[in-house]
Amino acid sequence: MGTFAAHWITPMSSLSALINKERLPRHIAIIMDGNGRWAKEKGEDRLYGHYQGVESVRDIVEGAAELGIEYLTLYAFSTENWDRPADEVSGLMELLVTTIRKEVSTLNKNNIRLHVIGDLNMLPEHARNELQEGLDMTAANTGLNLVMALSYSGRWELLEAVRNIAKAVKSGELDPAEIDEQTLQNNLSTHAFPDPELMIRTSGEYRISNFLLYQLAYAELYFTDVCWPDFRKKNLVEALLDYQQRERRFGKISEQL
Ligand code: IPE
Ligand code: IPE
Ligand code: MG
Repeated sequence: MGTFAAHWITPMSSLSALINKERLPRHIAIIMDGNGRWAKEKGEDRLYGHYQGVESVRDIVEGAAELGIEYLTLYAFSTENWDRPADEVSGLMELLVTTIRKEVSTLNKNNIRLHVIGDLNMLPEHARNELQEGLDMTAANTGLNLVMALSYSGRWELLEAVRNIAKAVKSGELDPAEIDEQTLQNNLSTHAFPDPELMIRTSGEYRISNFLLYQLAYAELYFTDVCWPDFRKKNLVEALLDYQQRERRFGKISEQL
């Protein structure tokens, strides 16, 4: 990306030395996009792109942990992705199960805690069980929180929240006049996490695609043409350097910050 093109020969270690450790985002959210196009360009099928994408997940999770990021949310499968061809959906589910099984010990070694957000009822039972095992086995870890968004969409999440709040009103637990932003936040699947300060999308698409609609209200957005299977620590560092040059005003003016 323009500003950092000059760093292309700089090794990762010296590039990451440019990061201001005092101004890191607590929470980075990533739309991991472009697996299919990346594979097609190489004359391979889409699933090959998803398999290679797992290598990027490993690298980015490791990089985030090394940098001391507290929360990393990865958009792995959207509600709308269920409408893809059946063989791609089942291939992705299989990949999910095998990856979690293989990676749990590495997560534990690195003190990483796994979380999942999304409509897990939609997942095949063996995938759900495998996920639950991953959640249980990493529950005591206190380092990076790795949040996988699976069968997730922002609109689904908001509907669920509205439904829960309506139930509480109906049962008399909650007075509608008392509903505030905190009520809504408490009913989101992300209630335990701070809002992301930085959202990255790969593959040159400039949209949100139903990701964290409520939580991204004031996130800095970073788009790169790099497809997900090519996105590595070095690219994460570039995104962070770009983020650190921005002025987050939250509606105010510069002089008030
Ligand atoms: C992102 O890559 C992974 C998922 C959505 C599961 P895509 O599969 O969307 O790849 P493109 O965008 O078609 O290239
Ligand atoms: C968003 O990517 C979902 C994930 C990365 C999991 P898509 O490829 O599904 O989004 P669109 O269809 O390009 O908007
Ligand atoms: Mg895509």
